[in-house]
Amino acid sequence: QINEAEVVLFSVPSYACQRRTTLDNHNTTLTDALSLLAENAELSEEDGRGVAFRRAAAVLKALPAPVTAMSQLRGLPCLGDHSLRVIKDILENEASDEVESTKQSERFKALKVLTGIFGVGAKTADRWIRDGIHNLHQLRESGAALNRAQQAGLEHYDDLKQQVTKAEADAITEIVQEAVISVLPGAQVVLTGGFRRGKQTGHDVDFLITHPEEGREVGLMPKIVFWLESKGFLLYQKTTRNSYLEVKDGPGRPSSNMDRFERCLSIFKLAEKEERAIKVTENTVKTKDSVRDHTQSETDQDPQSHSYERHELTNPPVHRRWRAVRVDLVVSPISQFAFALLGWTGSKLFERELRRWAGHVKAMSLSSHALYDNKQSRYLRAASEEEIFAHLGLEYIPPSERNA
Ligand code: CTP
Ligand code: MN
Ligand code: MN
Ligand code: MN
Repeated sequence: QINEAEVVLFSVPSYACQRRTTLDNHNTTLTDALSLLAENAELSEEDGRGVAFRRAAAVLKALPAPVTAMSQLRGLPCLGDHSLRVIKDILENEASDEVESTKQSERFKALKVLTGIFGVGAKTADRWIRDGIHNLHQLRESGAALNRAQQAGLEHYDDLKQQVTKAEADAITEIVQEAVISVLPGAQVVLTGGFRRGKQTGHDVDFLITHPEEGREVGLMPKIVFWLESKGFLLYQKTTRNSYLEVKDGPGRPSSNMDRFERCLSIFKLAEKEERAIKVTENTVKTKDSVRDHTQSETDQDPQSHSYERHELTNPPVHRRWRAVRVDLVVSPISQFAFALLGWTGSKLFERELRRWAGHVKAMSLSSHALYDNKQSRYLRAASEEEIFAHLGLEYIPPSERNA
């Protein structure tokens, strides 16, 4: 009471999954700095350091007010010497030399540009840099062998580095919903990832698909992909079959973070707004993007599309264009749906912390498929995210508060 004006002391629990982290971050300067160091560590394949910086940033994201003095941080978890040094530099000098020099470093810049290509990870980027490739121009000139994903990534680089808006995510949701109910009536589509956490932009759009009757979802992805492809919505896709077997992949193999659902990593061709309004009616007939294509195929079109055609020619949209957007589709059987939903909602750190909590505190193994209790030697079923939090002895944290 006497030192009321002195400092606000913060207190947060040590696992991110015990905390409510909204998008209302009061310490963006500090968390941006720590996130950059985390990213640099991850790009340098120093995952341990990366996680340490991510955890430190997450603690600051959970604080109810800006940090103004180092003394406020006493007793907070996950703040190691290195992170504290960076925070101190920023509080005292407005910037951290380490962060600034990392940002300026040729290696970091090259790693950012190259791993910014869809399909290119830290290992590939490092190999290219050692071969003297630091930017897209040098990559194109180098003749380096690119796989199909990387070719698509390079081709659509500018579009894909641009953030996806909520409006674009909603437009894609409608398309995916139409595809899914066309090939399997009764199937359900849920928007996951950052958009489910309430973010207004994202690097991609994530969907989880299921059917209320177990088993009906088997083989669904190829049908969805075929529908999307036939309507011209896909610029790239790679579908992976479901390879999950409880006996084989359950408690015995907790090491892999990758889930084994049927999934499709794709690049959508999303028409811009003006064009999309027209396309909605056109989709049912025929889809092509340029006016030239329309006029060429005019002769073999039915009267319905002909009236559309004339409308378009007399009243051409100003921006006749589309853009590439990364979309992830995942299909889950209903029995695993709650786990898949929890696992695909993120954030990545929140997920990592949930699994760490499960293992270290509860002696359980959590994945996007199941929760296994090592002490009872049995799986714990759950029909909702709330039930999973309850099994884990955690207070329920809604998606909008999982932005760790
Ligand atoms: N995920 C996963 N397995 C992968 C890729 C992603 O389980 N191979 C999960 C991540 O753990 C995360 C969610 O899918 O919980 C969404 O991942 P991602 O799209 O990369 O991140 P977002 O949080 O959606 O962020 P952004 O808005 O940048 O897309
Ligand atoms: Mn607040
Ligand atoms: Mn996402
Ligand atoms: Mn994703």
